[in-house]
Amino acid sequence: MAGRLPTLWVGVRAVTAPLIERYRDRLPVTDQTPVVSLGEGSTPLLRAPRLSERLGVDLWLKWEASNPTASYKDRGMTVAVSKAVENGAQAVVCASTGNTSASAAAYAARAGIQAVVLVTEGAAGGKLVQARALGARVLAVRGSFDAALATARELGERDGYVLVNSLNPHRVEGQKTAVYEIVEELGGPPDAFVLPYGGGGNTTAYAKALGELGLDTPLHSVEAADRPRTLASAIRIEQPAHSERVEASGARVHPVTDEEIVDAWLELAGEEGLFCEPASAAGLALLRTSDALRGARVVVTITGHGLKDPAAADRHAPLPLQVDPDSDAIARALG
Ligand code: F0G
Repeated sequence: MAGRLPTLWVGVRAVTAPLIERYRDRLPVTDQTPVVSLGEGSTPLLRAPRLSERLGVDLWLKWEASNPTASYKDRGMTVAVSKAVENGAQAVVCASTGNTSASAAAYAARAGIQAVVLVTEGAAGGKLVQARALGARVLAVRGSFDAALATARELGERDGYVLVNSLNPHRVEGQKTAVYEIVEELGGPPDAFVLPYGGGGNTTAYAKALGELGLDTPLHSVEAADRPRTLASAIRIEQPAHSERVEASGARVHPVTDEEIVDAWLELAGEEGLFCEPASAAGLALLRTSDALRGARVVVTITGHGLKDPAAADRHAPLPLQVDPDSDAIARALG
């Protein structure tokens, strides 16, 4: 399968192809669809040499934090907002633990329409700041994500509004492109895909891509063992909206504890230089606690950036050492 080159070099200037252009033939767009893009997709697929050796797997990391709003949501949002504009929407609406709202806010601003985002209590600070700065109407909803999502669905029924949660099928269409990129870049499928499982939209999207490619590569979806209370705020969702589709997809679902998530999260940063948010490390937490994938070539999707949740890093990463501006004293302090 010949993939289009994601980046064209014109003289010394790189021109990044919008995700919709790269995969136009596999997405529900036409010449009438305005392309609302911030240069999403075409994210790095990084081999993880140290973790591969330690865990006895051939480990590859799909670094989705390098999307424009620093999470994989942008893949779905470029398609959902482009289609919303095509269909005459004046506003997009979503409920979110944070990343969907930041992405909706950015693409709505880019399209010149309003974003109304319902964020849940406990949404990470960096994501809230993003949505606010991007000009969204940000409403902090009391109660759980599940209650906020039910309300967003109702708002999405109103004239002029379009729901851009992953219940919108255009979100799933856009997000499936991560699998296309991985298969193109590896020259074939890996032995397994591993990704976090919150609402299940991304698992649904990966399963759709595999179906389209005629592949039966195993999908491993990793959820927080304590869904309603996990420190991984992005996946703090009690009732996954896509649970039936996840079940039908054949994905294997694995729970991991918060402690396992934090250990994986710190290791990903310290060993491979990828600072993600805690939820994004759920996939690695599975590999560290199970040897079911020993010897396999595994792609783990790292879904969002660590800077989105500075409070989590504050709690778990070592504090700076207080020193005087004196090189001898600093050398002593470093041991
Ligand atoms: N990783 C991150 C960083 C997320 O933000 C999410 C979901 C997931 C994983 C789980 O993906 O829901 O497709 O199974 N975030 C949603 C939000 C709920 O509102 O931003 P999923």
